[in-house]
Amino acid sequence: MHDLIRNFVIIAHIDHGKSTLADRFLELTGAVERRKMQNQYLDQMDLERERGITIKLQPVRMRYTPKGEKQTYVLNLIDTPGHVDFSYEVSRSLAAVEGAILLVDATKGIQAQTLANLHLAQRQGLVIVPAINKVDLPNARTEIVKEQLSLLLGITPDTILSISAKQGTGVIELLDRVVRDVPPPHIVDGPARALIFDSSFDAYKGVIAYVRMVSGTVSNRDTMLAWATKARAEVLETGWFAPQQTPEKSLEPGMIGYIATGIKDPGQIHVGDTITLQREAQNAAFEPLPGYRQATPMVFASFFPENGEEYDVLKDALGKLKLTDASLLYEPESSAGLGRGFRVGFLGMLHVEIISERLRREFNLKLIVSSPSVEYQVTLKNGEEILIRSAALLPDPSRVEMIAEPIARVEIIAPSTYVGGVMELAATRRSIYEATEYLGSDTAVLRYVIPLAELITDFYDQLKSVSSGYASLSYELCGFRVDDLVRLDILVADDIVEPFSRIVPRLLANREGRAMIEKLKDIIPAQWFAVALQAVIGGKVIARETIRARRKDVTGYLYGGDVTRKMKLLEKQKRGKKKMEELGRVQIPHNVFLEMLKR
Ligand code: GTP
Repeated sequence: MHDLIRNFVIIAHIDHGKSTLADRFLELTGAVERRKMQNQYLDQMDLERERGITIKLQPVRMRYTPKGEKQTYVLNLIDTPGHVDFSYEVSRSLAAVEGAILLVDATKGIQAQTLANLHLAQRQGLVIVPAINKVDLPNARTEIVKEQLSLLLGITPDTILSISAKQGTGVIELLDRVVRDVPPPHIVDGPARALIFDSSFDAYKGVIAYVRMVSGTVSNRDTMLAWATKARAEVLETGWFAPQQTPEKSLEPGMIGYIATGIKDPGQIHVGDTITLQREAQNAAFEPLPGYRQATPMVFASFFPENGEEYDVLKDALGKLKLTDASLLYEPESSAGLGRGFRVGFLGMLHVEIISERLRREFNLKLIVSSPSVEYQVTLKNGEEILIRSAALLPDPSRVEMIAEPIARVEIIAPSTYVGGVMELAATRRSIYEATEYLGSDTAVLRYVIPLAELITDFYDQLKSVSSGYASLSYELCGFRVDDLVRLDILVADDIVEPFSRIVPRLLANREGRAMIEKLKDIIPAQWFAVALQAVIGGKVIARETIRARRKDVTGYLYGGDVTRKMKLLEKQKRGKKKMEELGRVQIPHNVFLEMLKR
């Protein structure tokens, strides 16, 4: 039976057409009826559809009979995100499959995430099925891109398929290629072991673990055990993804599916852990699966509920988001001015933006979010060394000997014509140039070491703009480097607003301070009095702006509701206002903090 299973992923740089290709596969195999089909079917989150990006990995099972064959294959596909901030999602899906379609946009060619994801897949020992997509476009450079890809993979160009995921050409051939080239799962005998590669939460079924069965069988009503947490439960339901959850009596080896655990505490089921059966775990020879390496957070931001009473709601919300986003790390934090909240670790700025937005939409939380910060290594005058993840925690400058910041090894891929522009940009980011290599005749790979703080701000957007969208990057942390760094504070009506504080290089402090108060001037609503905005370093004002006073609001007189209703409303407002007062005389609405996150 398992000879007829194929487990695979599609890997690609962002926007090269993964979700569109997945749509065609779903149609072709009848997994989704045509009339129910909508674009990017697997991108089920509203945010994913609005932005046209995949954030979450999403598994689906399809049945497929290749032309001229009698046998029907079970194809398990995991759709994965392409943006660098979500590469942790990709690495987890790779461990659950045997093959990967490597999709490359014929107009863009190989880009940084193509390479980064390919390396991940090769390290995992996956069979690579390459294909060039979007060959229908007039500016497709199909032959050149084929040449590039063949050099990269060490294969002949004519074995690479050309397809149009949008129009459906070449898609059947590609699916046939998957059936032919990707091996069936390797089945090992032994106890039930299921690798948890993702999870979700259901109010009735509790935590639902998304698993790849490596050996043995898990059936409904079995007593399961999550190895690392020792959480025990009776299996409520097992099943597969159609892509909606479809119950089945049991999960057989080699399969990708889900186990509904009934467990209500999200902390009990960890991505990367092994699910087994209680009776089988008792065998002394039992060995769990290797699991995954932990995600390394790059950026940290503090989240405080605007209304202090919502601390528990925030805590619960983070726990639930963590289930569907294993890279999210958080710890409680408290601040004199802001009360109790959490310091949350992220993989990048887009990740910060997405999580803040999800907390607002899915949990209705109004949050005060601090300026994201990397982790700094601070050496004090007394020799002590501390790590801080927030400008607010930086000790007084008189106690600080030196500050080191994380640096990253960066790989930028760009068409040769844009190399000049990319180098000029990198030169403005305190970078150290390392090397340039070429992939074929017209694609350059540039290597730099750049401070992480420079990368996470708007480097990616700038890189896109200097290269008409063609350049791309990937990076990994490679250590710490000392620089002349200072704390930049923002004062609103003479009060420091702690969430806006940042650590910046002294050389760039003026520019950064000015940019921040100019943006704040536009987004903080006008008050009844003129409000001074100041950017300050060590007591010295480096930039200043004023928000002009607002004119009298006549619409207030037209309020027609009855008095008790108005009183109730005022009472409710008072609670919210109290926290705001602690932030200074000016009320800063929570959306200002969200706006400040956006570049
Ligand atoms: P992420 O999920 O964000 O990583 O992107 P993706 O790789 O899933 O790309 P997606 O499928 O969303 O496609 C990106 C854009 O390219 C969409 O506007 C698609 O309509 C378009 N597109 C995808 N395949 C083709 C194709 O074969 N031809 C043309 N002309 N456009 C395509």
